[in-house]
Amino acid sequence: MALQNINPINTTTWKRLEAHYADMKDRSIKELFQNDLDRASKFHIAWNDFLVDYSKNKINQETLDLLLNLAEEMQLKDAIVKYFRGDLINKTENRAVLHTALRAPEEAVVLVDGVNVIPEIYTVKKAIETFSNEIISGNRKGYTGKPFTDVVNIGIGGSDLGPAMVVEALQFYKNHLNVHFVSNVDGDHVSEVIKNLNPETTLFVIVSKTFTTQETLTNSETIRTWFLQSAQPEDIAKHFVAVSTNIEKVTAFGIDESNIFPMWDWVGGRFSLWSAVGLSISLAVGFDHFDHLLKGAHQMDNHFKEEPFEKNIPVVLALLSIWYNNFFNAESEALIPYTQYLQKLTPYLQQGIMESNGKSVDRDGKPVQYQTGTIIWGEPGTNSQHAFFQLIHQGTKLIPTDFIGFISPLHGNQEHHDKLMSNFFAQTEALLQGKSENQVQDECDKLGMAQNQADFLKPFKVFAGDKPTNTLLIKKLTPQSLGALIALYEHKIFVQGVLWNIFSYDQWGVELGKQLANSILDEIRSKQVKKHDSSTLFLLEHFLKNK
Ligand code: F6P
Repeated sequence: MALQNINPINTTTWKRLEAHYADMKDRSIKELFQNDLDRASKFHIAWNDFLVDYSKNKINQETLDLLLNLAEEMQLKDAIVKYFRGDLINKTENRAVLHTALRAPEEAVVLVDGVNVIPEIYTVKKAIETFSNEIISGNRKGYTGKPFTDVVNIGIGGSDLGPAMVVEALQFYKNHLNVHFVSNVDGDHVSEVIKNLNPETTLFVIVSKTFTTQETLTNSETIRTWFLQSAQPEDIAKHFVAVSTNIEKVTAFGIDESNIFPMWDWVGGRFSLWSAVGLSISLAVGFDHFDHLLKGAHQMDNHFKEEPFEKNIPVVLALLSIWYNNFFNAESEALIPYTQYLQKLTPYLQQGIMESNGKSVDRDGKPVQYQTGTIIWGEPGTNSQHAFFQLIHQGTKLIPTDFIGFISPLHGNQEHHDKLMSNFFAQTEALLQGKSENQVQDECDKLGMAQNQADFLKPFKVFAGDKPTNTLLIKKLTPQSLGALIALYEHKIFVQGVLWNIFSYDQWGVELGKQLANSILDEIRSKQVKKHDSSTLFLLEHFLKNK
């Protein structure tokens, strides 16, 4: 069954939230803390290795109750059942959305068109395990009999960002294989990656759900040509494998059917790292770590499915985000992981969040009359503190920010970690507290500054704070906690899509650019520019004249 079709702004709770917003908008978070000394113990969720403190938000109990009511009124419970059950909730593509099945236990039953998909999933998992073990152990060798030293993942979007992010995040757990990623159709990307590679010891994993994506096919062809400069066509079978739903196109490319890891149309590209799309992850860190990643995600799935909404991390984070996006008109959200290992988490989530919820038509096919998809951006702390934090602290825009930190470091250097974490805590406190006039006066006095100079500086140095943050404090960055963290944000996306009454699992907007690029490519090749707007025409002619 499809998801319900309810306009959120017509619900009674939405109207009550609007009235409540009028009460809350000028109350500072600092004042909320002063009025309620128990605030942190009320507004947090402890689950497994996660502690999520959301007390530094512009909310009180009434806000939370209203947001939870909105979730009820929008029938979120029913939507969650349909999501996990494999109902065709991706209605515009007539598909189920079942990345959660990819991490379900072997005894689970998930039906798609009346067929349990779990046995198939486990057959592919077994193939991933066997293949990874053979490559890592060196039992499976290249065309000159040497073991593999390098792996190149060729894919883009969901066929690149997920594996690239996780391989980077789990670097600490990595084996000897060097794993590279080629995604951009810009020839400089592929050239830079292959220039130091030895074809005799490099394995290529072509990842494309559709196997029609221009970037991936072009890069694969370039790499195949480069490979064949030293090897014979029959050696392709030893060095090229593919992950795809399109078996016909993969075999037409020259890859043996036995070297194809299948995936399914009920797995969206941006949620696919749990499938064979994660093959590069399994190669980089070994199958057991890959499996733990899946286990962590499954634990988060259970938490999301079973916990009451007020203790449910994805639900609460999604509701807070809606509070700022739809009532405070916040334009974006930042996500700041305090570990260098998660430097690719934000770009990865940009696809998940913005490709899913960047929609302006509701489930009724009507233009929405409220803001949808949040803009997400960020970089690891502490680097980001020295780059863009000034704007979060003192700029004119409201930017709710998620801080993600870990209690124990992986490298064991406690001195570094304590410094890192002191920054982590200091930033959310500074964002909450700001700086008072008295503090600035004290600082000036300590410096022996003349009073007229201190008075001049005060307006620039005094600031209100009052910037909302969520703190996610996790025990340690392990494959399992990473899996849970990724799944958390996947479910946040789902909740927001349900509450905004949009379809989160298609991406028609991206398709238009792809179609236009193909026709412009024909024009560039034939040097015959067709009909365009005057700007595109002008630019194309300039390009053709000067190329
Ligand atoms: O950018 C659009 C998109 O369809 C993504 O959703 C997808 O992850 C990416 O292109 C790559 O697609 P494919 O895996 O089919 O090559």
